[in-house]
Order: sequence, then C-alpha cells, then structure tokens
Amino acid sequence: MTALFTEFSLKDVTLRNRIAVPPMCQYSADDGHTNDWHLAHYTQLARGGAGLVIVEATAVSPEGRITPGCTGIWNDAQAEGMAKIASAIKKAGACAGIQIAHAGRKASANRPWEGDDHLADSDPQSWQTIAPSAVAFGANLPKVPQAMTLQDIERVKADFVAAAKRAKLPDLSGWNCILLMAIWHKAFFQSTPISVTINMVAIWPVVVDSYWKLYKPCEKSGQKICH
Ligand SMILES: Cc1cc2nc3c(=O)[nH]c(=O)nc-3n(C[C@H](O)[C@H](O)[C@H](O)COP(=O)(O)O)c2cc1C
Repeated sequence: MTALFTEFSLKDVTLRNRIAVPPMCQYSADDGHTNDWHLAHYTQLARGGAGLVIVEATAVSPEGRITPGCTGIWNDAQAEGMAKIASAIKKAGACAGIQIAHAGRKASANRPWEGDDHLADSDPQSWQTIAPSAVAFGANLPKVPQAMTLQDIERVKADFVAAAKRAKLPDLSGWNCILLMAIWHKAFFQSTPISVTINMVAIWPVVVDSYWKLYKPCEKSGQKICH
C-alpha cells in the first residue's frame, strides 16, 4: 500500500499525509501585505487535503522581493496578515509553512504576466539589486546586481533573523515550519562557484544557527501541532 496517504511526523509536527504544496509566488501582494486573494487561495489549497501547505517566498526586506507584487515579512503588520493565513490553513487540517526569502539578483522583476523580466531602471517601481558578486543571472534577467559589502551581508543576515522572529511572535505562532530561501542564484550563493564569495559561505551557518535557536522543535511537549 502506498505511504502517500499515511501520516508523517517530524518531532512534534505531524502531517495528515505526505502531500505538500510547495511555495508558489502569487505576485498579488500590496506593498508586501497579503490580502483576500492569499487568504482564499491558501485556505482552498489546505481544504484540498494536502498535509502541508507552504506559503510563497516571502521577502525579508523590500529589496528581497522578486517583483513588486511579492509578499513580505519585514514589518509586524505583514506578519499579522500572514498569521491569519497560517491559522486558516491549520483550521482546514493542514500544517502551515512559510518560506522567507531574499531574491538577490533575481529581484526587481516584472510579474510573469507583465513580461517576467527585470523592471527597466527607468521604472519607478524598480530598485537596486544586490548579490554576492556583481554578476547578472542572465537570460531574461540581465540586470547586474551590486556586489554586497560586509555591511550588506550583516544587514541581510539580520533581516532573515528578524523575519524568522516575526513569523514566530508569541501571539502569532501559527507556523509549523519555516523554509529559508537564500540559495541558488539568490542572496547568499550564486550558481557558479566562481561567483560565490567566501563571506557569503561564512554567514550561512549563522543564519541556520539562528533559525534552529528560534525553531528547534519543542522536545518536552511531544504533542501534535496539527489535527
Ligand atoms: C507559479 C509558481 C511560483 C513558484 N514560486 C516559488 C516560490 O515562491 N518559492 C520556491 O521555492 N519555489 C517556487 N516555485 C517552484 C515550485 O515550488 C516548484 O515548481 C515545485 O516545487 C515543483 O517542482 P518542479 O517544478 O521541479 O516539479 C514556483 C513555481 C511556480 C509554477
């Protein structure tokens, strides 16, 4: 018999089955804030029966958004909107995940249905992108990012930690899991070893360590968070 429809437990989180909806950008936020679209969309995905619903890449800073329509969690109001979504997902019986992200050199782009390429520098909605090195992603995303300084690295690192804490505010502790998205062409690493700076490699364990300090699953409870 297939295991697909059987429970899956990791520490104190139990999924009702092994079907997970991956994070998928909706490009429909207002200045990083979620709205009725997101609430309806993620609730219906949970009602569809998945064990885990992971909410789209949610930027840790305005510059970390892929497009102007991407969700964010760089302020408390955004985190509160997100927490309502987590609550709705859980009420529908699924576990709720959120992906916190920095889009690095892929940022400052058009929504897919508006061209799926970088916003023109002359577009008032565009912004300066940053990445480990001044190397463009290429193809439809030719904008050359600014190479991050050590200060930039510290700031982005702090943004990730602050976003993770915001997602876990005591009264908003709706999320069962959190994904970090900062790798693979994005803020911390780039696709070729040549373009990865040693500083970037060095900060990654710090972010992961901060994450585990915040989210280390509760060993004493043994309780199931979902269902
Ligand atoms: C519309 C759309 C939005 C996506 N947004 C994200 C995202 O926010 N974060 C992410 O990690 N992956 C994102 N992805 C990638 C999906 O998570 C990925 O396609 C999914 O895991 C299925 O993997 P596959 O395409 O290799 O089959 C997106 C994909 C689509 C189609």
